[in-house]
Amino acid sequence: MKRLKIKDILLNSKIGETIIAKGWVRTKRGSKNVNFIALNDGSTIHNLQIVADVSIFDESLLHEITTGAALSVTGKLTESAGGGQKIELIAETIELLGAADPDKFPIQSKRHTMEFLRENAHLRFRTNTFGAIFRIRHAMAFAIHKYFNEKGFNYLHTPIITGSDAEGAGQMFRVSTLDPKNPALTENGEIDYNEDFFGKPTNLTVSGQLEGELGALALGEIYTFGPTFRAENSNTTRHLSEFWMIEPEMAFYDLKDNMDLAEEFLKSLIKYALENCIDDLQFLASRLKQEEKSKPQDQRSMDLIEKLEFVLNNDFIRITYTEAIKILINSKPYKKKKFQFPVEWGVDLQSEHERYLVEKHFNCPVILTDYPKGIKAFYMKQNDDGKTVGAMDVLFPQIGEIIGGSQREENLEKLETRMKEMNIPSEEMWWYLDTRRYGSVEHSGFGLGFERFILFVTGMGNIRDVIAFPRTPKNAEF
Ligand code: 4AD
Ligand code: MG
Repeated sequence: MKRLKIKDILLNSKIGETIIAKGWVRTKRGSKNVNFIALNDGSTIHNLQIVADVSIFDESLLHEITTGAALSVTGKLTESAGGGQKIELIAETIELLGAADPDKFPIQSKRHTMEFLRENAHLRFRTNTFGAIFRIRHAMAFAIHKYFNEKGFNYLHTPIITGSDAEGAGQMFRVSTLDPKNPALTENGEIDYNEDFFGKPTNLTVSGQLEGELGALALGEIYTFGPTFRAENSNTTRHLSEFWMIEPEMAFYDLKDNMDLAEEFLKSLIKYALENCIDDLQFLASRLKQEEKSKPQDQRSMDLIEKLEFVLNNDFIRITYTEAIKILINSKPYKKKKFQFPVEWGVDLQSEHERYLVEKHFNCPVILTDYPKGIKAFYMKQNDDGKTVGAMDVLFPQIGEIIGGSQREENLEKLETRMKEMNIPSEEMWWYLDTRRYGSVEHSGFGLGFERFILFVTGMGNIRDVIAFPRTPKNAEF
């Protein structure tokens, strides 16, 4: 007899079949004569109900069947008498694979706070909520590869250790094998990176884009999907120090092509989630509803599934940064001085401004374009006005910026001038500039923050809850 996964049992097995199921106990309740055990093996949000006749099992065995214990159960599937499930397993043999001391196992069948579960991130997979989140996260990673594969993009693995600062933001984690107590020094008393492992200063990458451009300008269309690292000291619900980014880069694409791709891409992922993850989404939707019961009516958010369908079925609004600033200056919160951060042409938009545009003004995802060059990276296409660049940020409800991208400056001279203005050493970037020396063409790309996207799809409120083991300032447990 073969072990069947609970997902398959619930979908495909027939009444009367004898099967083996294995999994972890979620709950056990019982009467004098019979115990009902909810067994989950991670293949689905749904549990298999095991019915154990008290008269045929050792009392000591039944005693050890507690929340968190692992079991192997053989038995016959029957139609369920109780509500809540169609099928149940009448146990014939039960083997205790691994006990879970109920006085010590932290994940009990009551509601735990998200903070508590973060401290127990090694065991939080055992809850319904985190089971659902990580199945959806997997499905979205798969859907990303599927989408790009079907469009003929090549998956390019760009390096994680890098000698350049792609975003020019300087918030990088150093990679070094020098002895921190006694590093090699130059004659001037500075750290001698010639003696370091790579013979130069190196860091963990903030983005695979620059290398991605090299690939795109030969393969045509590439994407990266890998970990990226930012040493910014941002303790928010939307920032991680280690996060995953998807970065497509396309030759012969202008800014409009770039926006079209971003919108189609996001919608295809949402469609995939609705078609393939509906059980988990429904669970998360009802969880969210429960959580929001305590909020006043006007502060409750849209039902999770309705929200996904809404984004799928509506065009994103596309406006320029300059238009957005005008809208913000004419807005109620601006006039009533409710924004914490200043609004004027030239400043970077904060999440409060982005969310006002998306959630209050347009009530729809928004793509903002043509930002002031002063707040964007050196590589962005310089517009003819001399003030703005061909940038595009996609803003989502509850999240704010989910995608950042641009058309790239393909003109060598303009690029070098901009690098000089921004104090970016062009000697070290000779390889990047070579693409502008030889066969340079119009090209564009963007980066989707994977965890921000998973936040949106799952309706979770904190980015620490959509990555298995979050890395944030002062936190690298597990
Ligand atoms: O806007 P960013 O910094 O853009 C880039 O890195 C470009 N090189 C992308 C490109 O054009 N190829 O980052 C892209 C996205 C953001 O929109 C956001 O979703 C996410 O990455 N992101 C973060 N997610 C979690 N934690 C952080 N600290 C993040 N910083 C950026
Ligand atoms: Mg950005």
